[in-house]
Amino acid sequence: MKEPVALSENIYWVGVNDYETQLFEGLWPMPRGISYNSYLIVDDKVALIDAVKQFFLPDLMEKIGQILPAGKSIDYLIINHMEPDHTGSLKLFPQLFPQMTIVGNKKTAGFLESYYGLTEPVTVVEEGDVLDLGRHKLTFYITPMIHWPETMMTHETTSNILFTGDAFGGFGALEGGIFDDQIRADYFEYETLRYFANVIGKFSPMVQKAISRLKDMDIGTIAAAHGPVWRRNPGHIIGQYDRWSSHQTEPGAVVVYGSMYGNTQRMAETVARGLAAAGVQDIRLHPASTSHLSYILADAWRFKGLVLASCTYDSRLFPPLRLLVDFLSPKGVSQNRVLGILGSYGWAGGAVKEMQDFASQGDWNVVEPVVQVKGGPTRDTLEQCFELGKNLAAAIKA
Ligand code: FEO
Repeated sequence: MKEPVALSENIYWVGVNDYETQLFEGLWPMPRGISYNSYLIVDDKVALIDAVKQFFLPDLMEKIGQILPAGKSIDYLIINHMEPDHTGSLKLFPQLFPQMTIVGNKKTAGFLESYYGLTEPVTVVEEGDVLDLGRHKLTFYITPMIHWPETMMTHETTSNILFTGDAFGGFGALEGGIFDDQIRADYFEYETLRYFANVIGKFSPMVQKAISRLKDMDIGTIAAAHGPVWRRNPGHIIGQYDRWSSHQTEPGAVVVYGSMYGNTQRMAETVARGLAAAGVQDIRLHPASTSHLSYILADAWRFKGLVLASCTYDSRLFPPLRLLVDFLSPKGVSQNRVLGILGSYGWAGGAVKEMQDFASQGDWNVVEPVVQVKGGPTRDTLEQCFELGKNLAAAIKA
């Protein structure tokens, strides 16, 4: 017998844990799984807030069945976000709950049709609309692009719980504890940053907009669609998302290198030595060939300093570095960051030029010297790398 998890009187967590999916969105590793949080409100009318991924429908149904009083069914499915990690199970809902109405905004309705061919019964809500369930009332706030155009948040005003969809979520399954006062928040800290950097970071301006609105609401509980429910200290997770989305960085550096035979690696390590010699303690060295992009992005989002070191491959950046700069550009990571560039080539350059072009497209503060060597590094080259590390350290501390 599973115990119902209550957020407050008649509001329950009915989410599931996914340890099966290896890559979120087919891209991002989840060694510690992820939760798809769904919430049930039982009142005169019954509302389910967000659903779960397709394969977890039986688990969701079992949890709902343990809570629903005899004779009751789901009257409303509130969709804060249409991405299939929350709606994949939706296809069967019309058969399971024939009298149920789906509630979303105008854009939700478009996605319902394009993804699932569903056009009715759908109720379209707008900013500030209220849905009366009896004792509980739901107010809707349209918060687009956290993470898709239709994303919105639902505020349950009786218990002061804000259901936020992807916003304030993170990777990591809920391993027993559901609430922030039942877990060690620091266990989730890095996985939440990684989720933000991989999935949400590109939409930082929209996160900032939502957070500025929350400041006037004094929310009691943040119930996101992934990760823990924040009831003891909702300000903690809001603060973390605020820091990351406003590009407040930590005084450390991530050094990413692409190297075939160790020459560029040696240069990158010498930059790291320069950083350390000048007092930077948080340094993360990533070989681009073997460190997953997901972890590099998380560190790039966290620290003020970024060093890109690349050998030249087919007259261009080393391929894993190409992928990294492709992801860094649209995610807007350049703000409040300092960048070091270095590279090597055999007979014709290419890598350093490509990194400089990348830097010129953002707000990157490029720290001198840019170091480039033909063949392997000489004593002179390594001295320049060390110098670059020291200069980066000064820029990080500035
Ligand atoms: Fe949790 Fe954007 O999906």
